[in-house]
Amino acid sequence: MPLERAKRAAAEAAVALVDDGMRVGLGTGSTARYAIEALGQRIRLESLRIVAVPTSQATEALARKAGIPLGGFADIEELDLAIDGADEIERGTLNLIKGGGGALLREKIVAQAAHRFLVVADSSKLVDRLGAFALPVECVRFGHEQTGRRLADLGGTPVLRLAGDGAPFQTDGGNLIQDCAGFAPITDPWALARHIREIAGVVETGLFLDMAECAFVGAPDGSVETLYPDAA
Ligand code: A5P
Repeated sequence: MPLERAKRAAAEAAVALVDDGMRVGLGTGSTARYAIEALGQRIRLESLRIVAVPTSQATEALARKAGIPLGGFADIEELDLAIDGADEIERGTLNLIKGGGGALLREKIVAQAAHRFLVVADSSKLVDRLGAFALPVECVRFGHEQTGRRLADLGGTPVLRLAGDGAPFQTDGGNLIQDCAGFAPITDPWALARHIREIAGVVETGLFLDMAECAFVGAPDGSVETLYPDAA
């Protein structure tokens, strides 16, 4: 499975940067899952002592299974690094769209707590301009229809995300997600993020701007390219 090989290679490259004693943020999604497995393996083989903060209930369950000690922000003021996937990575800026897995709010809280935010992905996630992936926007349940109308006023075509049973998808925080196509190409993600955040019902957007220190991008042959943001 070349795609899985690419994801695994990217995740393992990031996990190699974890040192003994670190506090680590653990992302959500199919690529982050490989990072969790790799970290669990390092803990077993190298007796690595770390503590991790998970970005979702799903990641928490995977981390427990992998034998990774977990903590929370009640005790941990900052993280040494966080490792997470992305739905789109813009070449040059390393600005991201995240939230395809529905964990964008916790992911952003964890990423902002981390000194180093490392992105792991396969090369299909690289884009020249963000926006082909419908931008996930987390919003509160009350008035979500109205929030959707305001997102449409900004040029988006929001679609309320549904779960497998047809009911609205609910985030770990009990909120809803509007997946907003229609913004592509996102030429000014800062302005778009600001306008979206000004809508009262919005909790957070899936735009992760100027946050990634680097991106480990895996190829189907198992090689990994490390990308950094262009100098401003
Ligand atoms: C989870 O909410 C997302 O932000 C994921 O990080 C993103 O969707 C990438 O997931 P995959 O690694 O499964 O593509």
